[in-house]
Amino acid sequence: MSKSPTIVLKFGGSVLRGEADLPLAVHEIYRHWRQGYRVLAVVSAFEGTTDELLARTEKYGPDGNDHAVATLLATGEAVSAALLASALKRSGINSKILAPHQVGILTEGAPLDGEITGANIDAVDRALDGSIVIVSGFVGVNADGDTTLLGRGGTDLTALYLANALNARCVLVKDVDGLFETNPADAAVRPRRYSTVSYSTTLERGGELVQPKAVEFAEKVGLNFEIASLGSGVATHVGDLEDAFASDLSEELRRPLKVALLGCGVVGFGVYERLRAMPQKFEITGVVNLHRERAIERGIEPELIGNDAIELIEGDCDVVVELIGGKNAAGQFIRHSLANGRSVVSANKALISEHGRSLHELAESADVSLRYGAAVGGVVPALETARRLSKTSQPTVIRGIINGTSNFICGRLEDGKDFHASVKEAQEAGFAEADPTLDIDGSDAAQKLVLLARSAFGSDIAFDDIPRRGLEEASGADAAAAREAGRSFRVVAEVRADGGKATASVSCVSLDASDPLAQINGAENLVLFETADGDRHVVRGRGAGRYATAEAVLGDIFDIYYETLENGHQYLPTQPGLHCRVQGATI
Ligand code: HSE
Repeated sequence: MSKSPTIVLKFGGSVLRGEADLPLAVHEIYRHWRQGYRVLAVVSAFEGTTDELLARTEKYGPDGNDHAVATLLATGEAVSAALLASALKRSGINSKILAPHQVGILTEGAPLDGEITGANIDAVDRALDGSIVIVSGFVGVNADGDTTLLGRGGTDLTALYLANALNARCVLVKDVDGLFETNPADAAVRPRRYSTVSYSTTLERGGELVQPKAVEFAEKVGLNFEIASLGSGVATHVGDLEDAFASDLSEELRRPLKVALLGCGVVGFGVYERLRAMPQKFEITGVVNLHRERAIERGIEPELIGNDAIELIEGDCDVVVELIGGKNAAGQFIRHSLANGRSVVSANKALISEHGRSLHELAESADVSLRYGAAVGGVVPALETARRLSKTSQPTVIRGIINGTSNFICGRLEDGKDFHASVKEAQEAGFAEADPTLDIDGSDAAQKLVLLARSAFGSDIAFDDIPRRGLEEASGADAAAAREAGRSFRVVAEVRADGGKATASVSCVSLDASDPLAQINGAENLVLFETADGDRHVVRGRGAGRYATAEAVLGDIFDIYYETLENGHQYLPTQPGLHCRVQGATI
């Protein structure tokens, strides 16, 4: 398996102020994972926790037992690491917490302000091959195995040390967009932000922002790193670099991206909640939902709810998020949005598998984005990986479990449960399509194969040319027999690039226990890519349900947010004049 690049993201107490900030850290981790990075998250305790714990131990006198103090303070990091793992899990993203003794940050010197002399880098590296890895910053062990600390701000040093040893990119995520010439919190006029800065200027000006001991370490080993805020998309690069100021509009000066939401069901509401939690970045211009009362019950602001999608699309917005499903109305709205210069985010695999090419042409001619990362695999970056591999390697085979509902039912059948009761359970859990037949007969998986083949091979396969044998003909006896034989009963989707032509199938099979697909349970998805050079790439995570799908939709919205930043424009108001009202049209 080829190694993906690694990124170390350090989340300090100024960004993890409390549990409400965890979803922001999840978005940040997800966006890098989606880009193909192995992600190591180094966390501090929640803001104020270390001081509270210190105050508790100081009650027992000034000459505390250093290792007792270190053990107590380390609980702060253990809590934030565990809760970050829980927040990732809720969004369907697997992670592994490595406890301080597993990371083995070996320290010498003062027990509460140690110097790092080594770490179990192989263990961290191995863990990164399986999932996101979370480690506590600030905490080490000495040669006797006692818990030690790295001094105030020591999480920065942990992050830089591990990044250097793993040959990784390192981003210290702070509550400001980078290093400024003076502290922006103290200045009447906003100071300039460095785009690049030398180690010495960082030591001189960044003492409060970055632990000096960490900067000195980076300088000693010649490691470049970045200072950025959560999700801002801009950073200060620190290294053996000339000092230079950024010309970009900083986060605070940009207006939020204006988002129109079509559909506010299970996923739509999840997206709504997260957008509302980031008012500096996103403004919801309106929500169109068929059932006004249901939307109000869910907690949507009544004044945002409307019933005219065309009016909302033509209003002042940058992005239209289509989550109504179905093909006719959704297709009409997406076309109208693109024709009116709005970028579009959708999770509509049925529509895009059928009309993707023409919709992409429309998006291209209007110079806007059409994104649908959530359409395949929920939070799993399946299409992103397919697209990336198509540029760097030559994908030859894609094989996976890409329908959570049928996979969930397979597991229930193996357990001897009733088929219809299992379908109902999947519907209640929010995995199943409005018409679960599409999940059961392999149609949903086939639609996803069309999208995967287009992204990976650039080939168009017709949905009708994909042979499908889903669960409709399967029996509980087949599932029980597989279980009895130590095998797994699963619905597997596969597409192969066959000499310029793609061939695909969806089939219900009994898998050997050694097959990576055999380990996938419930709503989880796994997609395995093989490339011409014999490499294998695996992506895995929750493929269905509110949080996982909402995370993927948000990932697309964030990508559009960053795209506008890279293009150097601050969401100029969309141009009038392109309006062409489409009514009652079907596609
Ligand atoms: N019904 C789909 C599934 C939803 O069960 O996988 C996610 O595409």
